Amino acid sequence: MEIAHRGYAAEAPENTLAALRRAGRHADAVEIDVRRCGSGDLVVIHDAEVDRLTDGTGRVADLSLAELEALDVLGSGESIPTLAEVLSIVPADVAINVELKETGIATDAVEAIDPAENPVIVSSFSERALRETRAASASIPTAYLADRLRDRPVTTAVELDCRCVHPRFALCFYSPIISRAHDLGLGVNAWTVDDPLVVRALCRLGVDGVVTDRSGVVPDRYRTVAD
Ligand code: G3P
Ligand code: MG
Repeated sequence: MEIAHRGYAAEAPENTLAALRRAGRHADAVEIDVRRCGSGDLVVIHDAEVDRLTDGTGRVADLSLAELEALDVLGSGESIPTLAEVLSIVPADVAINVELKETGIATDAVEAIDPAENPVIVSSFSERALRETRAASASIPTAYLADRLRDRPVTTAVELDCRCVHPRFALCFYSPIISRAHDLGLGVNAWTVDDPLVVRALCRLGVDGVVTDRSGVVPDRYRTVAD
């Protein structure tokens, strides 16, 4: 499975509707980052501040939706979308990986998601955000994002009742994380890999999905969507 990181961030203005519309035509799944803005709405932006990504300045949490919508993302003419807008434009057969960047947003995120519309997985580095997600829905699939082996990726994913573990890709090369996860019934989606040779190596190792900034890096025979 090829998962378009922020809507293929190397090829389009990340996490915008334009990027995600395009990614929806090429990817098996799209990955987006979600946080709450000052007016309480859930918006799709990676950083806690708007400075790197837009012509504005300040913290997302301090800016209203109207203020965020007035900003230009990476000089593209695109604005910061809401979660609801993104969910409405991704084609039905494309999966959506909703990454929660904060705690306290899981209930609203789960409410916005219609699992009948798209296959969805809610991921987070935050154990608390994943517990909040499970409290909001007993059935929505979740994934634990693991940066380091010290996070005990597989054990933590099992403890959090996750469907998948999402390790930083290098962890797959120097630990038995893939086989351990598979033995326990978890899927493995590795992030973030743009080099096609590394993608191929990960596919041969048995990952179920690769999160990537570039389209077409996952060979066709690995493009089936994992259950
Ligand atoms: O889903 C993997 C990846 O998105 C996690 O890192 O910082 O790009 O959100 P980041
Ligand atoms: Mg992310």
